[in-house]
Amino acid sequence: MKIVAFNGSPRANGNTKRLLQVALAPLTEAGFETEIIQVGGKALRGCRACGICKTSQNRTCAQTGDEMNGFIDKMLEADGVLIGSPTYFADITSETKALIDRCGYVARANGNLLTGKVGAAVIAVRRAGGMTAFDTINRFFAVEGMLIVGSSYWNIGIGRDAGDVEADEEGLQTMRDLGAAMAKVLPALRSL
Ligand SMILES: Cc1cc2nc3c(=O)[nH]c(=O)nc-3n(C[C@H](O)[C@H](O)[C@H](O)COP(=O)(O)O)c2cc1C
Repeated sequence: MKIVAFNGSPRANGNTKRLLQVALAPLTEAGFETEIIQVGGKALRGCRACGICKTSQNRTCAQTGDEMNGFIDKMLEADGVLIGSPTYFADITSETKALIDRCGYVARANGNLLTGKVGAAVIAVRRAGGMTAFDTINRFFAVEGMLIVGSSYWNIGIGRDAGDVEADEEGLQTMRDLGAAMAKVLPALRSL
């Protein structure tokens, strides 16, 4: 089974990436295929509401000038999806929002292609607004009919400069517990 983690931070090797790596480690150890995909910092357009995905029904976004269709393919192929974002002005980054809007619309236009997949949000935050960012991603999973996996705390790591989350032991443990929980839940879904 495949787990894809999207890093919505433009800081490709920052705190969000580290948190995603820690969450993925138990999944890799359990034999799942895991991958981190860099989304932050890419020139990605938002959804333009053209509606072509609804008429073409070809599992792609009609905007082809950026990398989004590759991200959509990756999300559609995955059994489990992690979406990570740093907190920007008390919410997710623009690139993470573009991912949600365009993948989400294409999935819904083609018969709810994300339904039944497992999802989890991962957030890096310096001080405040992390819960809003966490909720934004979880609302996406919920409306897509995805199964949200929880952990021992909300999946948030605290830090400002790249690498600061290494000092947030509780945040790191939350990520380990998240990965372990996903590893438990995913095989059970095969039988559904
Ligand atoms: C444009 C911008 C907005 C930010 N807004 C917030 C915020 O609202 N609340 C907060 O606690 N931290 C905020 N931060 C700090 C980042 O969330 C924090 O540094 C985080 O660890 C960055 O994760 P990264 O290393 O994965 O990029 C902001 C940073 C930037 C660059």
